[in-house]
Amino acid sequence: MQTRTLGTTGPQTSALGLGCMGMSALYGDADRTESLATVHAALDAGITLLDTGDFYGMGHNELLLNEALRTAPPAARENALISVKFGALRTVEGAFSGYDGRPAAVKNFAAYSLQRLGTDHIDVYRIARLDPDVPIEETVGAIAELIEAGHVRHVGLSEVGAETLRRAAAVAPVSDLQIEYSLISRDIEKEILPTARELGIGITAYGVLSRGLISGHFSRDRRLAANDFRGLSPRFQGANLDHNLGLVEALRGIADRKGVSVAQTAIAWVLGRGEDIVPLIGARTRERLTEALGALDVTLDADDLAAIEQAVPAGAAAGDRYPANQMAHLDSER
Ligand SMILES: NC(=O)c1ccc[n+]([C@@H]2O[C@H](COP(=O)([O-])OP(=O)(O)OC[C@H]3O[C@@H](n4cnc5c(N)ncnc54)[C@H](OP(=O)(O)O)[C@@H]3O)[C@@H](O)[C@H]2O)c1
Repeated sequence: MQTRTLGTTGPQTSALGLGCMGMSALYGDADRTESLATVHAALDAGITLLDTGDFYGMGHNELLLNEALRTAPPAARENALISVKFGALRTVEGAFSGYDGRPAAVKNFAAYSLQRLGTDHIDVYRIARLDPDVPIEETVGAIAELIEAGHVRHVGLSEVGAETLRRAAAVAPVSDLQIEYSLISRDIEKEILPTARELGIGITAYGVLSRGLISGHFSRDRRLAANDFRGLSPRFQGANLDHNLGLVEALRGIADRKGVSVAQTAIAWVLGRGEDIVPLIGARTRERLTEALGALDVTLDADDLAAIEQAVPAGAAAGDRYPANQMAHLDSER
């Protein structure tokens, strides 16, 4: 497995991480047995970075990881790095009701996560969204105290803008910013990515397949469960979806000529954007995982990149990457 390092102060990790969210939430029901088998297959393939959130299925995802790690070979368990997001508040009905980044809340979230994960530390700990009522210095300061106490190893951030990156990095070293980055979500290239690079902060990129939209497997006929995020995502609606699937077909032409899949092309493109970027793969079946791992063997040369740029130029997607009420929580979009 190829490796990368998260920022100048973060851990060495596999070049691809496994994002476990879809095994508990947001993409409709997942198969528990297959989810566990997928985590095991990822560890077996040398993936060391496992990304979760305490609010993914309201604890379900952390308990799933607990079981996956308990039943994994000891060496794989030892090498695994767990990245946890916290701070999202939920209602009993499952609705999202805000964010809490107060220091006492941060420590409370961590205590519960450690219990659910069954580990004595969390490798990278990050608030999922900036809490607008709490200065980032206080939230990061609380994580720094958890590091002092040995419960956490590294500070991470999620979906914050350049200014917040600077303020956070002034309090404690930050290993990585987790943020959406793909062929059709390239806004970070303007200010956020250069700032992260200046500060020595790595990127863990999510939505590399734009939630499956640019995987080559999504079609207009796909039926989405009522609890599937994509049912609300602007990019998956009506004329936007038609336009975006048109981009996928243009990409498919390039992938076909190279003898690789569309998903592999999209993942390889992100991998190629810099050694400081680690794509998080949202595979929840072994089949999808195997396909994603194949991206590590795909090299995109200058001609390929030019063809991709022509097929899917920056800003080509129709529709925002989140519904308006969720865009409002993105410090990265201010
Ligand atoms: N910090 C944040 O705000 C944030 C937000 C979202 C996610 N994340 C993290 O990032 C991870 C990945 O994000 P994501 O789920 O949006 O990523 P993604 O990789 O863009 O999308 C995953 C979706 O793509 C589909 N897919 C099709 N082919 C695939 C393949 N070969 N490999 C993997 N997936 C394939 C999956 O398929 P099926 O539908 O067939 O299963 C799944 O529905 C999450 O699990 C989570 O840990 C972080």
